[in-house]
Amino acid sequence: MDKPRQPFADGLPNLSEGHFIFPASADLQVATPFAHAPRFLILYGSLRERSFSRFLAYEAARLLEAMGGEVRIYDAHGLPLPDDATADHPKVQELRNLSIWSEGHVWVSPERHGAMSGVMKSQIDWLPLSEGSVRPTQGRTLAVMQVSGGSQSFNAVNGLRVLGRWMRMVTIPNQSSVPMAYKEFDETGRMKPGPLYDRVVDVCEELMKFTLLTRERSDYLVDRYSERKEREPDRLKAVAADIGFVRRPS
Ligand SMILES: Cc1cc2nc3c(=O)[nH]c(=O)nc-3n(C[C@H](O)[C@H](O)[C@H](O)COP(=O)(O)O)c2cc1C
Repeated sequence: MDKPRQPFADGLPNLSEGHFIFPASADLQVATPFAHAPRFLILYGSLRERSFSRFLAYEAARLLEAMGGEVRIYDAHGLPLPDDATADHPKVQELRNLSIWSEGHVWVSPERHGAMSGVMKSQIDWLPLSEGSVRPTQGRTLAVMQVSGGSQSFNAVNGLRVLGRWMRMVTIPNQSSVPMAYKEFDETGRMKPGPLYDRVVDVCEELMKFTLLTRERSDYLVDRYSERKEREPDRLKAVAADIGFVRRPS
């Protein structure tokens, strides 16, 4: 096990005693591993009846379920525009509760005018970063996907990645972008076999791996020095005096 190092007191004069830690590999050990299936929430950004982003969302759901996940897909029909209703609106509550329940997300947006769709953005805008001590997205994993009518493009997924950072999510490296989406799905809405489908499998596999690796330790992963300092301005001074400058997480 890594030993807490002694502080280099003259080197870091601005650190607040009692709040600064040296993260160690032992901190990642999980006392009680989760027994339930990994939980995924899938959001898609279209209300069209024959929507390729919805078809892609369902392909991701099938794959994540086949890999042992539990999946919920949110239907944005009836969700008011941001601030056009109060947060107790049933569609807003449904969305927030699903996100709180989830351990990972998949966001699938159409590209519209070189950006994610308004339907997609509205759903994220209804998810608060924090509401009291509840943070519906923080620490969850995220995979981003897009469909478009034109040639290969990454505008929507790039925007979704920025949003993932804003919502403090662990966005996985791989992503899926399906150009000329009208060619990639059959009449029943199933995605045709080929490299674009294989990429969706890759993304779901990677999302499952990242979720299994991080879900039990997401609170630890998102714990920040600056926020500990703000939250507990006077705490642990005595502990800090005992062990030098280093606080181990309890
Ligand atoms: C208003 C509007 C803007 C669009 N802008 C783009 C675009 O910038 N790039 C692109 O490749 N396709 C664009 N498209 C095509 C859509 O991405 C495509 O139709 C997609 O399948 C829509 O998603 P959906 O099937 O889930 O509704 C646009 C479509 C509409 C209606």
